[in-house]
Amino acid sequence: MKRVLSGIQSSGKLHLGNYFGMMSRMIRYQEENELYCFIANYHTLTSINDKELIKNNTLDAVIDFLALGLDPEKSVFWVQSDVPQVTELTWLLSNVTGVGLLERATSYKDKLTKGLTPNVGLFSYPVLMASDILCFGADVVPVGKDQKQHLEMTRDIAIRFNQIFGETFIVPDSEIEKTTMLVPGIDGQKMSKSYDNAIPIFTDEKKMRKRIMSIVTDSTAIDEPKDKDTPLFQLFSLFLDENGKKELSDRYDTPGLRYGDVKKELFETVWSTFEPYQQKREYLVNHLDYVRDLCQKGAEKASTVATTYLNKARENMGLHY
Ligand code: ADP
Ligand code: TRP
Repeated sequence: MKRVLSGIQSSGKLHLGNYFGMMSRMIRYQEENELYCFIANYHTLTSINDKELIKNNTLDAVIDFLALGLDPEKSVFWVQSDVPQVTELTWLLSNVTGVGLLERATSYKDKLTKGLTPNVGLFSYPVLMASDILCFGADVVPVGKDQKQHLEMTRDIAIRFNQIFGETFIVPDSEIEKTTMLVPGIDGQKMSKSYDNAIPIFTDEKKMRKRIMSIVTDSTAIDEPKDKDTPLFQLFSLFLDENGKKELSDRYDTPGLRYGDVKKELFETVWSTFEPYQQKREYLVNHLDYVRDLCQKGAEKASTVATTYLNKARENMGLHY
């Protein structure tokens, strides 16, 4: 049985990109794999420094996952900061990680380009991510395309550590699904919590409708066939099976299609997909002690595994004298 692990930052409301890029796969995988899933709130600290926001976002992300069907009985589910062993391992791994490797990280470079003054946390973010993965002996890491480079760095770090200090870590594989690896936002860029272009999984009906109605479209005349390499078509396709996609594609090729109609249909589809989970979400929001208790139990299970890998690394590096 493969050990599948992935995490998600709690830096804002979880959205359709997170859902298709990672969450839905993780929820599916819990049935036939050893599933390890966590909320990466240490990573959130690299971009947010508001205490209440950090707390609320963490709980919100936990609740979203549980509401959508992540089952703590079938998986190990925890909040990253409840297993601080990963931060010690981050330090150990930092010593086999070249500065050049981190300087080449595109997500870091993008943030510099946007004018952000980086802190050391942001710079060493990929080392913490490597630690998240190596500390639990993951074989496979399902992620969206934006995380591909971080996974390559994790592999580099693991290989280098094993070469220098002897076999310690499993070298993991990333798993990126072609159809869901880059979900577009309402403006056509990658959907992201930080670009204000996301469609949240859970929000009220009015806001969801407004968001979907504002997906950018082009000015192709009504009697012309429409371009399918566009966010509205791509977003709708995520909810359709092969027949549904074919039908939508045919409608795009046939003159007469109105974008406004497609948007309304997309809204109905998105709303009816997630509405059934709202009741469970509501229940969890009103039972936070139960939610915290589940997180603690998950953290205990995760901690046992983390301690084993951390101790192996400490031993192999000569820290047990
Ligand atoms: P965000 O960019 O919104 O902050 P995260 O970086 O927390 O999202 O991503 C959490 C997971 O969701 C990662 O596996 C990431 O690859 C995936 N993901 C995020 N945005 C998208 C997207 N637009 N398309 C596909 N996967 C995505
Ligand atoms: N960096 C990831 C993101 O922004 C979140 C993350 C942290 C992660 N640690 C991880 C993903 C370990 C997979 C495995 O989406």
